Amino acid sequence: MLRPAWIEVNLSALADNIHNLKSVLSPHQQIIAVIKGDAYGHGALPVWRVALASGAGRLAVALVQEALELRRDGCAAPILILSSPPREAAALLVEQQIESPLTDLEGAKALSQAAQRQGRPALAHLKVDTGLHRLGIRPEEVPPFCEAFREMPGLEITGIFTHFSSAPSDPEATMEEFTQFRQAIGAAEATLGQRIPLRHACNSAAAVRYPEMWLDAVRPGALIYGIPRNRGGLYMPVMRPVLALRARLSVIKEVRAGERIGYDLSYRAPHDGRLGQVPLGYADGWDRRLSNNGYVLIHGQRCPIVGRVCMDTTTVDLTPAPEAQVEDLVTLIGGQGEDQIEVHELAQLCETVHQEFVTRLGPRLPRVYFAEPGDTRVRAALADKEDLLSDAPIRHRASSSQHR
Ligand SMILES: Cc1ncc(COP(=O)(O)O)c(C=O)c1O
Repeated sequence: MLRPAWIEVNLSALADNIHNLKSVLSPHQQIIAVIKGDAYGHGALPVWRVALASGAGRLAVALVQEALELRRDGCAAPILILSSPPREAAALLVEQQIESPLTDLEGAKALSQAAQRQGRPALAHLKVDTGLHRLGIRPEEVPPFCEAFREMPGLEITGIFTHFSSAPSDPEATMEEFTQFRQAIGAAEATLGQRIPLRHACNSAAAVRYPEMWLDAVRPGALIYGIPRNRGGLYMPVMRPVLALRARLSVIKEVRAGERIGYDLSYRAPHDGRLGQVPLGYADGWDRRLSNNGYVLIHGQRCPIVGRVCMDTTTVDLTPAPEAQVEDLVTLIGGQGEDQIEVHELAQLCETVHQEFVTRLGPRLPRVYFAEPGDTRVRAALADKEDLLSDAPIRHRASSSQHR
């Protein structure tokens, strides 16, 4: 491997997470797998195939270009755009039968005109802004907007959705937003004179906490990637982390007690010891806020990050792993030995959300996709793209050492 730092994506864990999530929903409830941001850094192309094969009925992305990439890759499933698409994309969206969020009159007109020109429906989900104040129609404005939409030929409202402002942190606000959404659904359906087929509100945090809000579909991102794992698991199964970040130690150097190291000399060695270089840095999306802050696993032990994280390398104190040698395995995210570093711990250290942490892991890190031994589902899901799959990494084979 030319780059001794890489991301491992366990597609068996992804398949299990989605399958297990599907099994707690009612048969009519769908999973809309959120795979924007290159499937939260996991890689959208294998992920969409495994997601659909494991129980997701639909996909959601943020950008028109993300949706087009999926269509180009052969994805025929329903795809919803979550952010507001530019007006000039209307013709492409209709041509590719991609679902748009309906948020204003001008956007709706552009879709309707494209639909008429092409003789095909413009598929759209009405977006209701119940509190986030980012995108969508205010609940009280839903009836007049729906009056206008009803008059637009070719516009087909296949769904209605909202996105909660604070599902993980504020139950009261979430309940209030859900109540507003329910009222908006009632008003929209009364004005349009039809039941809107797909009503959805729940991201991961809401899906985990509020089964009464699952409606016709849930719209999880983080949860299907196993971040967080939902260990409490009240209404949802426990999830497995899908992504691991690993590298091989590239350099080991001696350091003497009292010496200061790294840019700005921000760390002073408390005793004689050994420092290891882990060959990845902030140009790979490894957060610089982990400077003198985080840790990595070597020989199953937590080795602290010392000094500033650099663009291409990160220095660690090897005191907890005295036997470490150049080329030994370093786990930055994921399990090694008895221990496991989870994305949410790192995100907390960086005072950010786990979604930011994984979506920033950059394209310089090769993605290694694998299925666990004996798992035929993933191979079947990737039937036309089997070349994307690597052998299961050494750690997933029964008899091998954990470290080398
Ligand atoms: C509209 C919308 N729905 C669903 C999601 C998925 O969120 P999560 O990763 O918290 O499940 C997102 C992500 O930001 C979103 O913007």
